Amino acid sequence: MRTVTLGHTGEQVSALCLGAMFFGTKQDQATSFSLLDQYVEAGGTFIDTANIYAHWVPGGEGGESETILGAWLKARGNCDDLFIASKVGFGYGNVPTALTPDLIEAECDKSLQRLGIDTIDLYYAHVDDRHTPLRDTLEAFNRLVASGKVRYIGASNYLAYRLERAHLLSKQEGWADFCSLQQRYTYLQPRYGMNMGMQQYVTAEIRDYVRARGDFTLLAYSVLLAGAYTRSDRAVHDAYKNPDNEARLLTLQAVARESGATANQVVLAWMMQSDPAVLPLIAASTTQQMAENIGALDITLSAEQMTRLNEARA
Ligand SMILES: NC(=O)c1ccc[n+]([C@@H]2O[C@H](COP(=O)([O-])OP(=O)(O)OC[C@H]3O[C@@H](n4cnc5c(N)ncnc54)[C@H](OP(=O)(O)O)[C@@H]3O)[C@@H](O)[C@H]2O)c1
Repeated sequence: MRTVTLGHTGEQVSALCLGAMFFGTKQDQATSFSLLDQYVEAGGTFIDTANIYAHWVPGGEGGESETILGAWLKARGNCDDLFIASKVGFGYGNVPTALTPDLIEAECDKSLQRLGIDTIDLYYAHVDDRHTPLRDTLEAFNRLVASGKVRYIGASNYLAYRLERAHLLSKQEGWADFCSLQQRYTYLQPRYGMNMGMQQYVTAEIRDYVRARGDFTLLAYSVLLAGAYTRSDRAVHDAYKNPDNEARLLTLQAVARESGATANQVVLAWMMQSDPAVLPLIAASTTQQMAENIGALDITLSAEQMTRLNEARA
């Protein structure tokens, strides 16, 4: 699988990152193992989980995804070949939503234990915490890097000015610096002011910030809108229903037809070819979905197609 450099780290990671959110809850162990095997057989090395996955699914408590991933890593003995990302910050069970030093350190130990590994390659602050001084949060993350429990740190669901503040503070103190940002993003543009709870969308400002930084990787989640681009059983959320997005959908379908690709593949290819490039997280519950999503790597959109996709409006 094609690789890209992760932020300032110099590390090569897969151009498509596998989201493991529902492994161990919606997807049983056998299905989770076969999807992980399929991704790795296609050359993928970059896997994304979090301490809270997936406590909101009936029967889930949080930690199931890391536990299944840990069982699979043990069974395959391949953790040295992979780049494992996990996250801390959103609450689950008795754990509050926060990025206090004690919580970061305790949750990191729990994640390492569930994953059965000594080091998490990329550890994210899952959501900004405006009540804990940024200095305390970053110092705690830096301690994890210094102790070898974590190699690199990333941010998720942050605003641009907070990222810049964190960057300057880390530089000033000589601490580990966020190398990446994971944000919600897809081809359709949400209505201005859409309520996404604590999730943050990739805005024009974030794109400008990432472009200006140059050595900072932007990743995207919920890219395929749970399958809504191609499935009649999935509705596009009301926040995406407007005349501009109707034009975008028509353009997407036209480009897909011309390219012999599916709409999902065009969304993923468009993202990877955008400026700044965006590294999509892919998730799947069947081997067919996984094959389709990985197949996006074989699609190259022309400059003219990229312009049409970017400029489509009513
Ligand atoms: N940082 C954050 O705050 C945050 C938030 C959310 C997610 N994430 C990460 O991002 C990953 C992906 O998130 P997501 O699940 O919201 O992504 P998504 O791309 O919006 O949805 C994935 C779901 O879409 C359906 N699907 C996928 N490929 C398909 C295809 N080719 N054809 C038809 N349907 C398809 C499947 O639904 P069915 O399973 O129903 O078939 C699949 O489970 C997660 O695993 C997690 O690692 C991060």
